[in-house]
Amino acid sequence: MNSPAAHKDRIYLDHNATTPVDPRVLDAMLPWLHGGFGNPSSIHAEGRAARAAIDRARAHVARLLGADEEEIFFTSGGTESNNLAIFGAVEASGMAGGALISTPVEHHAVLRPLRRLQAKGFDLHLLGVDSGGRVDPDELEQMLALHDDVLLVSVISANNEVGTVQPIDELAAICRARGVYIHTDAVQAAGKLPIKLADSPVDMLSISAHKLYGPKGAGALFIRRGTKVSPQLLGGSHERKMRAGTENVAGIAGIGEACRLAGEELESGDKKLSALRDRLWNGLSGKLEGVHLNGHRQYRLSNTLNVSFEGVEGEALLLNLDLAGIACSSGSACASGSLEPSHVLTAMGVSPTLAQAAVRFSLGHSNSEEQLDSAVAEIITVVNRLRSLRFSF
Ligand SMILES: Cc1ncc(COP(=O)(O)O)c(C=O)c1O
Repeated sequence: MNSPAAHKDRIYLDHNATTPVDPRVLDAMLPWLHGGFGNPSSIHAEGRAARAAIDRARAHVARLLGADEEEIFFTSGGTESNNLAIFGAVEASGMAGGALISTPVEHHAVLRPLRRLQAKGFDLHLLGVDSGGRVDPDELEQMLALHDDVLLVSVISANNEVGTVQPIDELAAICRARGVYIHTDAVQAAGKLPIKLADSPVDMLSISAHKLYGPKGAGALFIRRGTKVSPQLLGGSHERKMRAGTENVAGIAGIGEACRLAGEELESGDKKLSALRDRLWNGLSGKLEGVHLNGHRQYRLSNTLNVSFEGVEGEALLLNLDLAGIACSSGSACASGSLEPSHVLTAMGVSPTLAQAAVRFSLGHSNSEEQLDSAVAEIITVVNRLRSLRFSF
């Protein structure tokens, strides 16, 4: 059976949730799913071929990130990379207590590990964000001046819900000056923003393949040479003893090819996506009253548009759009049966009502102007219908 997203008439506007696998990525993976089955740790020809595929992929990831190959460690995705960076750096510090600094607009794959450390007695300080979702480097400076026991700072590079881009290099320079490690979750930034770790003071950076047209279940963590991180999966000597477990060769070949393509297409993709995103916003805001853009107007990802529609439940809009053949996501999450407004929008000061009226559209390479125009027309129809239903009761 074909997946719904593969249906040619559907309009997929949820690329921050996941991207389709690029056919060229699939081609790079297939040899390692049939035929090339060797264990990369084996020294025979089958094993050496698999090892060579991993080495090639590592070179591609390193090139996209402007890092050295030996600073790239393959993982099962963004969640594992974040967990490894946070738990690994804290464990390696040898401290049973101390402070951690982050933001309220992190993905749960950062917030929950930090909350677990907090439950174990570490202090967690969250920087404030402005109404666009951006942190202020001066606040980090002040916080570091106030606390001399900070073990780690973790700040997301670009937010998955609203697309806000943080001043990561500036924040990292402040950390470097104080000798404090900084990790960044770059899962949404990689492939969309240029990253050059050789010129950046960031110590650790997470990426995930399925956000950049690669497969699910493959990711990587950049760990700058000399940064002390304790492995969290113990076993064999894989990934230079940083992450035990026989390598997902096909997934790694996939993330390698995805990174190679992302590096080649970053600039052209960025221009195309920001034009499409603006077309979507202009179409909606030009024809509908009561629409609010959530996120930073200047510092945001070219593919992400988060909009609150007054008088409409985001979840209802999403379900109606799905029925009309449009895939997007809402700004609320179902927690124990009730719709919780997004923690990101709440931290930005968006009211609970507008946070529940939020929908995220995240665009990708295959979207066209025609698709966006159809989506605008459909969204307007559905929003007007939902508003009229609401006011007719
Ligand atoms: C910003 C961010 N961090 C981490 C993750 C988790 O990545 P993965 O799905 O590869 O575990 C996601 C995925 O939604 C994300 O958007």
